[in-house]
Amino acid sequence: MNKPPLSIAVCGLGTVGRGVLEVLKRNADIIEQRAGRPIRVVTVASRTARPEVDLLGARFTTDLNSVIDDPDIDLVVELIGGETLADDLVRRSLAAGKHVVTANKAIIATHGDQYLEMAAARDLVFGFESAVAGGIPVIGALSRGLSANRINWVTGIINGTSNYILTAMAQSGQDFATALADAQALGYAEADPSFDVGGIDAAHKLTILACLAFGIGMRFEEVYTEGIETLTIDDIEYARQLGYRIKHLGIARQTHAGVELRVHPTLLPEQQLLASVDGVMNAVMINSDAAGDTLYYGAGAGGEPTASAVVADLIDVARGCAPRWWVPEAGPDDAVLIPVADIECACYLNIPSMDKPGVFARAATILSDHDISIEAVIQKEQAVHVDVEQSWVPIVILTHKVRERVMNEAIAELEALPEVVSPIKRIRVEHFV
Ligand code: HSE
Repeated sequence: MNKPPLSIAVCGLGTVGRGVLEVLKRNADIIEQRAGRPIRVVTVASRTARPEVDLLGARFTTDLNSVIDDPDIDLVVELIGGETLADDLVRRSLAAGKHVVTANKAIIATHGDQYLEMAAARDLVFGFESAVAGGIPVIGALSRGLSANRINWVTGIINGTSNYILTAMAQSGQDFATALADAQALGYAEADPSFDVGGIDAAHKLTILACLAFGIGMRFEEVYTEGIETLTIDDIEYARQLGYRIKHLGIARQTHAGVELRVHPTLLPEQQLLASVDGVMNAVMINSDAAGDTLYYGAGAGGEPTASAVVADLIDVARGCAPRWWVPEAGPDDAVLIPVADIECACYLNIPSMDKPGVFARAATILSDHDISIEAVIQKEQAVHVDVEQSWVPIVILTHKVRERVMNEAIAELEALPEVVSPIKRIRVEHFV
């Protein structure tokens, strides 16, 4: 007996919405075979007038209410972006008894606990494979492939725009603004690119990964977040001389004391696999007790890679094998998150100093007074910078592991030295071994 089609509405006709229609059309035969029944697009909704796109025979509307009110629609694909309208569409669709699939990491990271509860209470699917790292099936890896494991840590390059910029700065000496403009022209950046370069987008994605990895709920507000805006080509070059690459990472780690959740530029040893993930590509590495290290690499953005993940969720719903997400038994507030001041990391310090005798000795004494051990130092003649006020040289120091609050005290003392001329740059170092 033929099964009835899964009837869906695609809401939003931006890059991803168009990609979904294109993939559904091009791969219709294998999608139906794998789904066990056709996936029929009943309605396409977009706030702007009907664009030139093949709607696969669907009705077009600019009225989102008509989607929610339509009893023939089983599942709503939310791709309208933004937060307020998208949040409203997700809630009202679930309340109306429809499955929801969305790529909207911002609303998941902030309201996802509520969506999951609403879906669980109604035995509906809330699917979000596409919300983290685009075409990389990392949500499936955490929720299925690794579901037998205790997860020790999850880390990744999860913002393509930042990775594109850092790669362009490192490989072609491009400045920050030009590289960002290129990433925007290629369609990778968020509508507000400060979400990319300021680390917010990566923090949204890390929130979702950590929720699945550690059952801690969506804790976006508590993610320690730094962007890449203050990194310079000099930092990238000094790191290279020390044997490291600078990557913008999301890090979620289970420790005995609780969970660390942080997003920041990171020095990675050049032989670490993530260090060679360049351009706009994303990669996520997961360490778990039974499987050990696993690594997931691919396109983290773009129409068809993201559509690949959206349609995978649709196929799971059509087959009846989509995960009904676990909602943490303890409330999210019960899980302990470790304040960044309590983490332990090796650090790269770039201390801009007047070129006077004794400055390095004084800096080394301050570090030693805080029991901070130095692993390597760079200070080069040719690195002299001349700005309008005074000339200075960077003293670059790599330290051994130190608790963040101790490093904060040492940095405050270093910055109080009369010879230190502007804020000290601190970049955390991770090895993931
Ligand atoms: N703006 C995001 C990035 C794309 O640059 O990775 C989708 O999440």
